[in-house]
Amino acid sequence: MGEQNATPAETAQSTNRRQPFPQGFLDSISTGWAERPDIVAAAREQARYTGRRRDLVSAAFPGRRLVVPAGELKVRSNDTDFPFRAHSAFAHLTGWGADAEPGAVLVFDPAESGHTVTLFFRERADRATAEFYGDAAIGEFWIGPRPSLAAVAADLRIPTGHIDSFVPADGDLVVGEDPGLTRFVSEMRLVKDEYEIAQLQLAVDVTASGFDDIVANLDRVIAHPRGERVVEGVFHQRARSDGNGEGYDTIAAAGPHACYLHWTRNDGAVVAGDLMLVDAGVELDSLYTADITRTLPVSGTFTPAQRRVYETVREAADAAFAAARPGVRFREVHAAAMAVIARSVAGWGLLPVSAEEALDAELGGQHRRYMVHGTSHHLGLDVHDCAQARREMYYDGVLTAGMVFTIEPGLYFQIDDLTVPAELRGIGVRIEDDVLMTEHGPVNLSAAIPRTADEVEAWIARGR
Ligand code: GLY
Ligand code: MN
Ligand code: MN
Repeated sequence: MGEQNATPAETAQSTNRRQPFPQGFLDSISTGWAERPDIVAAAREQARYTGRRRDLVSAAFPGRRLVVPAGELKVRSNDTDFPFRAHSAFAHLTGWGADAEPGAVLVFDPAESGHTVTLFFRERADRATAEFYGDAAIGEFWIGPRPSLAAVAADLRIPTGHIDSFVPADGDLVVGEDPGLTRFVSEMRLVKDEYEIAQLQLAVDVTASGFDDIVANLDRVIAHPRGERVVEGVFHQRARSDGNGEGYDTIAAAGPHACYLHWTRNDGAVVAGDLMLVDAGVELDSLYTADITRTLPVSGTFTPAQRRVYETVREAADAAFAAARPGVRFREVHAAAMAVIARSVAGWGLLPVSAEEALDAELGGQHRRYMVHGTSHHLGLDVHDCAQARREMYYDGVLTAGMVFTIEPGLYFQIDDLTVPAELRGIGVRIEDDVLMTEHGPVNLSAAIPRTADEVEAWIARGR
């Protein structure tokens, strides 16, 4: 907002800390700096894959001008922003990940054959400009070095231009605005290439270390009145210590909190005798993320009731793995898990109908009270990847080699659920693995993380 339109309060706020720059400073600040050589590194590994992806987009929209924005910084409060995270379609088509510049746009201009593609962003400012020393949002004096056009062009193998030379036009198709383009760039990520698969395996592997650290710190977690926060912090520390980030807010849900599917408040105690559900995933510099859940008996040993619930969820997961193979519809994986869930809770006498009646697509669903979420979602740059894909490509789509998705059944008996016996109330279990479909069937990318009840108990016994 220009100051001429600002309210008096806003004007006061915007000037109350500003120190005028005296002439001596202005004379000094622009000079006396060494030349900054363009550090033109060899192109990053992604650059070998992104050209083919851009060719697919180009071929699908002949003659149209296409715009793929990285997105802008988002305000957290007042003059503080959230850490920047580029739009996944932008990351996928440019290879620019955690170091992407806010406000960048990838533009496909129609050419005689196909498109010419240019990556526009705000190049670092010359040090004679006020931006360099005076702009806290983008000035290099404030936020550190920013890349030149030449460096990014060499790194990503894409021609670059200054953002000021990008002029939006009527008729542009913009990702996030045009439904057809938005859907296309989402669906084209359903099948991963070898680079993406390797990144996802790496993300899972480093996530496994975070779970090991949580187990190793269980005694400290129990001792703290907000043990869930300690769990979140331990995972975060592992991610950051390895130089990484997280793909979503960690769910550290002990006792009855495990029944709240997206419990990220993480302000509760972790009490021996309860279960603790931890759902966390490391995001790499490339922005590919893992999405793993394990449910741990805090004391190190499952009670008989907890073990019964846990092993039922594991059977549901195993059934989902068994159903998953190339050519099968995505929803069949969910159906396989839900059949185990329905038969188990019916067998425990929790349903007012038989398992078969509960599994009736029209009139059933009673068992879903205890697992309201889906068993699987695609995984990649986004934790819920390819979210704009059409239903016939996603839930009703056919599993294909190269797809990566989760298998994550659960059972959640809320603390005040009068339909379950007291011994089950407050028990929540989810087991979530990340799965690569191959021509020969599913590969569990997270198989190295203990999974059965016995394995989990042994893990805690040796790890804590
Ligand atoms: N972490 C969110 C999910 O499992 O889908
Ligand atoms: Mn998930
Ligand atoms: Mn998850």
